[in-house]
Amino acid sequence: MDEASSSCAAGAVPAASDRVHEPAVAGDCVFSARGLTKVYRMGEVEVPALRGIDLELTAGELVVLLGPSGSGKSTLLNILGGLDTPTSGEVWYLDHQLTGATEQDLTRFRREHVGFVFQFYNLIPSLTARENVAAVTEIAEAPMRPEEALAMVGLGERLDHFPAQMSGGEQQRVAIARAIAKNPAVLLCDEPTGALDSQTGVVVLEALEKVNQTLGTLTVLITHNAGIAAMANRVIRLSDGHIVDIRANATRKAARELIW
Ligand SMILES: Nc1ncnc2c1ncn2[C@@H]1O[C@H](COP(=O)(O)OP(=O)(O)OP(=O)(O)O)[C@@H](O)[C@H]1O
Ligand SMILES: [Mg+2]
Repeated sequence: MDEASSSCAAGAVPAASDRVHEPAVAGDCVFSARGLTKVYRMGEVEVPALRGIDLELTAGELVVLLGPSGSGKSTLLNILGGLDTPTSGEVWYLDHQLTGATEQDLTRFRREHVGFVFQFYNLIPSLTARENVAAVTEIAEAPMRPEEALAMVGLGERLDHFPAQMSGGEQQRVAIARAIAKNPAVLLCDEPTGALDSQTGVVVLEALEKVNQTLGTLTVLITHNAGIAAMANRVIRLSDGHIVDIRANATRKAARELIW
C-alpha cells in the first residue's frame, strides 16, 4: 500500500501542543501505526513485545484484539493510549504524532481524548458511583453529567452506591461510565470482562456496545474470549508481537447474544 495515501499521518505535522483536531467522522482514520516495535529491557535481557505493527483504526469502529498471553495486546493498547512509547516506528492520532511527543503532551492527549477501562475497576472506595465519575468530569472540557454517563451503562439507580455495595459487573460499568463521561474519541479496554463470569460480562459488553453505537466512540477491546469477537466490526489477531490476521465481521452479533 502507498505509505502516504494509506496513512492518516499524511500532510503537515502540527506541533503536538496545537489543539486543532476536528472531530473525527465515522470512517476517518483515527490511529495510524507504522512499523511499531517495542523491546522491553530487563537488565541484560531484551524482551521483544511488538515486532513491527502496521495498523489503522477508524472513527466509530469497534475492534476486538485477540491473541495468546504475551502476544503484545496490552503493549499495543498502551502505546495507542499514550501510556507507553514504542522502541521504533510511528503512531499518529489524527494529525498528531504521538511518537516523540513530550510526556506533558501525552498526558494531555490521554486526558482529552482517551478513556481507559481495565480488568480491575480501580474505583475510589470512599466515593459513590456518582462521585467516582464526577472526579473525572471535573477536569474534562466538555463532559457528560455523571448521572447521564451512569444511566448510559444502566446504573441510573445506583448513583449513591459505594463500590463495596456493588457487584463486580456494576463496578466495571461505573468504570466505563467514568471513562466515557469526558466524551473521549477513543475508548481502550484491556480485558474489561476478564474478572467477570460470562453472564455479568455480557452486561458489561452491552454497556460498551451502547457507548460505541450512541456516542460513536472508537472502541478497542482486548479479550481472551474468541466468542466476544462476534460483536466487533473488525477482529485483529496478534501472535508473538505480530498482527497475524485482520478480519471484518460480515455480520455482527449483539452483545446479549454472545456466549463464551
Ligand atoms: N513492563 C514490562 N517489562 C518487561 N517485559 C514486559 C513488560 N510488559 C510486557 N512485557 C513483555 O512483553 C510481552 C508482551 O506483553 P503484553 O503484556 O503486551 O502481552 P498480552 O498480549 O497483553 O498478554 P496477556 O494476555 O497475558 O495480558 C510479554 O513477553 C511480556 O512479558
Ligand atoms: Mg495484557
